[in-house]
Amino acid sequence: MFRCIFGEGNIYKNLLDGRWVDSQSGKRDQIFSPTDGSLVGEVPATTPEEADPFVKGAAQAQRSWAKVPASERADVLHKAADILEREKEVIAGVLVREIAKNKKSSLSEVTRTADLIHFTAEEGKRLTGESLSSGAFPGFHETKLSISNRVPLGVVLAIAPFNYPINLAASKIAPALVAGNSVVFKPPTQGAISALYFSRVLCEAGLPAGVLNVITGQGRAIGDYLVGHPLVNMVAFTGSSKVGKHIAGLTGMKPLLLELGGKDAAIVLEDADLSLAAQHIVAGAFSFSGQRCTAVKRILVMESVADKLIGHLMPLVQAMTVGRPEDNADITPLISEEAGDFVQELIDDAVKKGAKLLIGNKRNKNLIYPALFDKVTVDMRIAWEEPFGPVLPILRVKTIDEAVKITNDSEYGLQASVFSKNIDTVFGIAARLDVGTIQVNGKTERGPDHFPFVGVKSSGMGTQGIRYSIEAMTRTKAVVLNFH
Ligand code: NAP
Ligand code: G3P
Repeated sequence: MFRCIFGEGNIYKNLLDGRWVDSQSGKRDQIFSPTDGSLVGEVPATTPEEADPFVKGAAQAQRSWAKVPASERADVLHKAADILEREKEVIAGVLVREIAKNKKSSLSEVTRTADLIHFTAEEGKRLTGESLSSGAFPGFHETKLSISNRVPLGVVLAIAPFNYPINLAASKIAPALVAGNSVVFKPPTQGAISALYFSRVLCEAGLPAGVLNVITGQGRAIGDYLVGHPLVNMVAFTGSSKVGKHIAGLTGMKPLLLELGGKDAAIVLEDADLSLAAQHIVAGAFSFSGQRCTAVKRILVMESVADKLIGHLMPLVQAMTVGRPEDNADITPLISEEAGDFVQELIDDAVKKGAKLLIGNKRNKNLIYPALFDKVTVDMRIAWEEPFGPVLPILRVKTIDEAVKITNDSEYGLQASVFSKNIDTVFGIAARLDVGTIQVNGKTERGPDHFPFVGVKSSGMGTQGIRYSIEAMTRTKAVVLNFH
């Protein structure tokens, strides 16, 4: 069983086997609950000098880890998933305290992660290569045979965001490990305790010393050092577009997997099932108080059905509970007051520029009540900026072309939803949208975790999703046989 760390400010001591770094400087990052400001705990504020030996240790440990049979690497992951399942109530409780995710969503994140790890373990046993004969190419006889397989990249730096500090850590760490890489994991500071609990599960499952190294500390203080470390062979990052672009400027020749911000549109056509669309849009826009990259962040609805859609939306938004995550409220405090200030800025801008406020514009510090705006226009910030909060703008459009243009004019290209009964129309629209995924008659979302998850433009680079992540964390290695 884990030691409870709530309120005691307990500090994880570095384990002798070097899995966790304890700041020798004594500097700590204190983590407070977004709900009531109470101290959840402290984590070491690791300096580059303190982190360096662990990155070196990761590189050393990786050489042995890569020689462990894939089936045995998979067994460690299966055991970790079982431990995670066993500890789910404790770890979900940490999420509730540390990031104000409600109990239902916190438990869902943990159980989803156990499922992700089991699935990844099995996928990792099915890494394949291929053999090619030279005779297929003009001018060559059947005298050469290329035999290739996939090998690990080495040390993977995994960086996770606050909103899924466990699932979006596992989505990087599990594929990296099963493929034979070692991992340096930089958790989000607000989420670091949850991430440490998760990392401890992996260590308890039997990872050899040095294969997983958790380096806590503010990203702005330690991030560039880790990204630029010569022994880091690959960077897998999930977070804001701003930080992702910054990292992309530092990685040079290192392979990079970026899952960044979004401004996902829900396009609602005249023949849509408006009740279904409303249910999916509200769930997609307001779960975890809108703090999801794949949240529905704008509605583009045909003018002729806009009033009817609003008639379906309003009772669903009004029915949402607002309060503490411990009480399983639908809408809970945002991660920080700064986050609340930014959402309020967007709300104030929309009001000032004449948007019609249907509900909301009510706030208690970082607790933002759900807001729904009608008649939002493209000159308003809320039409384009990612609030990462419970505010949803409705833009009325007259044509499909207009909806496609507004969707594509965004700097983001994560996902979009299209609601219509005409599959030909939907596929025609999907072909024109510059995004990673189009959800047909469904809310925008990353799951299930084995699906390809892609962001284009400012929403990312590369493809996440179990098999895709394993491929991104390995490379082809070929041996050519020459017959004489
Ligand atoms: P963030 O501020 O970009 O932080 C993400 C992670 O990067 C954190 O671990 C952070 O550490 C670290 N970091 C910060 N500066 C860094 C640097 N210079 N070098 C290396 N790492 C650095 O994002 P967030 O606030 O955690 O999450 C919200 C954003 O992430 C939103 O834009 C959301 O859309 C996006 N997001 C995207 C996805 C997706 O799958 N596409 C999923 C979730 C979130 P600290 O916590 O210590 O600052
Ligand atoms: O923002 C986190 C992103 O990965 C969303 O995941 O499954 O809630 O759509 P999901």
